[in-house]
Amino acid sequence: MPDALQLLKTRRSVKPMELGGPGPSPAELETLLTIGARVPDHGKLAPWRFIVFEGDARLAAGEKIAAIFRADRADATPEQIEFERKRLARAPLVVAVVSRAAPHVKIPEWEQQLSAGAAAMNLVNAAYALGFAASWITEWYSYDRRVLDALGLAPHERIAGFVHIGRPAKPPEERDRPQLADIVTRY
Ligand SMILES: Cc1cc2nc3c(=O)[nH]c(=O)nc-3n(C[C@H](O)[C@H](O)[C@H](O)COP(=O)(O)O)c2cc1C
Repeated sequence: MPDALQLLKTRRSVKPMELGGPGPSPAELETLLTIGARVPDHGKLAPWRFIVFEGDARLAAGEKIAAIFRADRADATPEQIEFERKRLARAPLVVAVVSRAAPHVKIPEWEQQLSAGAAAMNLVNAAYALGFAASWITEWYSYDRRVLDALGLAPHERIAGFVHIGRPAKPPEERDRPQLADIVTRY
């Protein structure tokens, strides 16, 4: 288990295709979700929720994604449809972070949405702390209302991300990061 600062300084996303098994155990999953829910949340609204996709449920959800893809693409090849069917089956575990942000008398919706982002990031960091790797992605299906309906989201709910979690096939390469001089000013 890496030291916390070292983890935060070195973490890199790993593509879903490169995330293998075994996935988290039930106890590790509970740890992941508990840490995911431990985020700043103005007004204690819990303006997010999680949907867990593991095992066959990943393909059951993928069938819905593929059906909608096919409905729009009469020319889709069997390979493309199969790719869509396996969208959520690339990694052993996928956790959808669902934003439940809604109008509130005191708490701006923007802040509720930010809290969902914090939940997704906590999930990602917790995955690394447990020795896994992760990828926070959205892709097209996060923005297709028909898919969201099929996955059981209420009309006001949105996807903050599908966090894919598994074992990295190989250590990720570093990527460029913003120069602090470009993003930091002193007031
Ligand atoms: C809300 C959100 C959605 C994202 N969606 C995608 C996506 O659909 N596809 C993708 O390749 N990367 C997506 N990313 C970017 C990756 O999560 C990640 O930031 C990127 O691969 C760089 O990796 P890093 O974590 O090592 O900086 C998304 C990031 C965020 C915050």
